[in-house]
Order: sequence, then C-alpha cells, then structure tokens
Amino acid sequence: MPHYLKLGLTPAKHHIRLPRDKTVSHQGEGLHYEHVVTTEGFDRAYSIAYHLRPPTRTKQVDLWRDVSLQPAAPAPLRHHHLKSADLARAGDPYTGRVPLLFNDTMVCHRCRPATAMAREYDFYRNGQSDDVIFVWSGGGWLESQYGRLRYRQDDYIVIPRGTIHRLVPDDITKEDYLILESAHPVRIPARYLHPEGQIRMGAPYSERDFHGPTEILTHDDGGDFAILTKSRHRYTRNVVVGHPHDVVGWDGYIYPFTFNANDFEPITGTVHLPPPIHQTFEINGFVICTFAPRHLDHHPEAVKVPWAHDNTEADEVLFYVRGEFGSRKGIAPGSFTLHPQGIPHGPHPGTTLRSFGLDRTEELAVMFDTQQPLQLTTAALAMDDPNYPLSWLG
Ligand SMILES: [Fe+2]
Repeated sequence: MPHYLKLGLTPAKHHIRLPRDKTVSHQGEGLHYEHVVTTEGFDRAYSIAYHLRPPTRTKQVDLWRDVSLQPAAPAPLRHHHLKSADLARAGDPYTGRVPLLFNDTMVCHRCRPATAMAREYDFYRNGQSDDVIFVWSGGGWLESQYGRLRYRQDDYIVIPRGTIHRLVPDDITKEDYLILESAHPVRIPARYLHPEGQIRMGAPYSERDFHGPTEILTHDDGGDFAILTKSRHRYTRNVVVGHPHDVVGWDGYIYPFTFNANDFEPITGTVHLPPPIHQTFEINGFVICTFAPRHLDHHPEAVKVPWAHDNTEADEVLFYVRGEFGSRKGIAPGSFTLHPQGIPHGPHPGTTLRSFGLDRTEELAVMFDTQQPLQLTTAALAMDDPNYPLSWLG
C-alpha cells in the first residue's frame, strides 16, 4: 500500500455526523453517507469516503457476459515466446482484455482497446481482484470515487478491487496495456519499509514516486448509471441510482495510484546482482519487477548478463517494453518470454561475449514471477513461437 492520503472534506473523527450543505440539490437525510473500504479485512488497510447519496442503491442487476478463461490444450513443459505487439485492436479498456497466462492468483492480459468505453455501461469495477495496468503506450485520466488521477506512458496504475472507475484516454488510438489482475492486494515489499512504515532510504523508490488522485470529483446527479462489475469470470451489469462519483472527501490507504517505471532507481554492483534488486511490488502468489535502463556491472572482468538458471520455485515471465535486452536474441518490444519452473534458461549464445563491451543497457522490461505454474490460454498459444525452446542451440 502507498502512504496515507486525504482529499476533500472529512469529519474530525470516524463515524460521526458530517452534515450536508443546504445548497446542494439532494438533501436525503441531511447527512453525508460514510463508506468504509477494506480489501483484507477490518484489521488491515482501509479508506473511508463520504458520499452525497448512499452507495448501495441498485435498481437493476443483469448477468452481462461470461468471460471464462480458455486454457490451451495440454502441452509439454517448455519455454515460450509470445509475440503480442500486433494484437488487433478490439473492445474498450475492459472488454478488450485478452487473457494470455493465468493461475489461481493472477491473470496476465494484453489490451489494445479500439474505443474508450462501450455504450452499455458508464463505469467498470473489478469486484474481486486488484488490477495493475502497465501503460505500454498512451496517457489520460483515471476517474474514480477517489477523484482524478493522471496516467502516462510507462506508468503502473494500481487499482484496488471495488474501485468504480473509467479511463479517459487522451487519444484512444495510442492506448496499449499490459494488465496483471491479482487475487491479492499489491504492496510495497516489506523489506523496503522501516518499522515506522516509511520507505527506507536506499530502496529503489520513495513516497515521492507514488501518485494518488489529485482532485476530488463530486457529481451531484441523481440519474441512473450502469457499472460493469467483474467477479470471477463473469461480468454483471449493475444499474445504480445516483452518480457513483459523488464523494465530497475521503482518507486512508486504499486508493488507485501510479508509479512510473522510469522512476525506479536501479541498484547495480561490480558483478551481477540477482533479480530481487529489481522488485517493484510484492503480492501473495507473485512479484512484479522492473528492469529499468541502468549502468551494467563494472568489475573489469564482469560477465554482464545473468547465469544459466534453474528456477524450480517460480514461473518467470518478462514483457519487453523497449530497448535491446542484453541476454536475449530474437525478442522485440511486445514480446513475452515464459520460462517455466523445472527447466533451466539462460543467456542466448553470443550474448555473453557481446556484453563485455557494454557499459549501459537501455532495456526496459516488466517481469512477474509466479509461485504457481502458469497456464497458457488459446489466445497465447496463437502468439507462440514454437521454435523458441530450441533457440539456445545457436
Ligand atoms: Fe531466471
């Protein structure tokens, strides 16, 4: 979780009256409506918001669409290279998500939306998972009950479950996302925090690199609004009475925020340091790491690409954002590599010798390592290079 944030009007204490301004149109019971949000129970992080209208007034509920995952047929254990750069644009930032890899704790999607929002609903809410949207390309505003939040290229946008939101892109034709949907909340790694809860000096980022909503949105509109809610593998369309972004103020630790990959301060050494130095987020079941542009190892004899590696405890996935990735050949921006647990992977032939002449790398990549094995979907298999497992032969 990021740090404590407060926007707008809140009463002096929890659960005391916050009277309504007599000038606004809907007086209701003369009070604002307090709304507590938790994602891991009442003894963990929470936020408290104050609405003009109760957030519970639903007038219609319809099952809208089944979005069950389509696993690929059983295949041998092998490495995969998925080429996703040319995925056809389709849907909006919610229905346009194409699931590629999944297990019980996460689903990895690619999304290249064609439209900003379908007509059938006004907002989206993931009811059971947190969404981490990595903005490969694009920029705009995220609007939610917590206010307006600017996003830009190379941002991770972390959206806690339950957030009623919509993305308002500057230019829909540029929007392109990697989306990691997580069954568990997204945290700053515990080892980056000191006992007082602040991010330690020496961590690869500080509180100043995390950005929450900057401007409260208080829509006083009693009309009907449709929310597309995802739970498990179905979409429900809920019609509610009153604009869901009618919050006059809130405070707490749960809110959508951004962290830009270019604000990750790489930690380097005289010789190769292992992948945990790149860790960005900690989540039950998987980690997210950022391979940011950086100086390479500077011992005069340093081997500047990793070792061959047996990862028997995690499936390792890299999404290549831009630049030339030092230890790989045949990889392009938009590629994924999946190196599953149980078989070794390592630098491609020739990359070790090539690395000796390099002082820096401009590569940018997002890595996620999962404890449970990942399954490919049929859509992922359609992007797969079947010759990749043999690419270490040279
Ligand atoms: Fe590895």
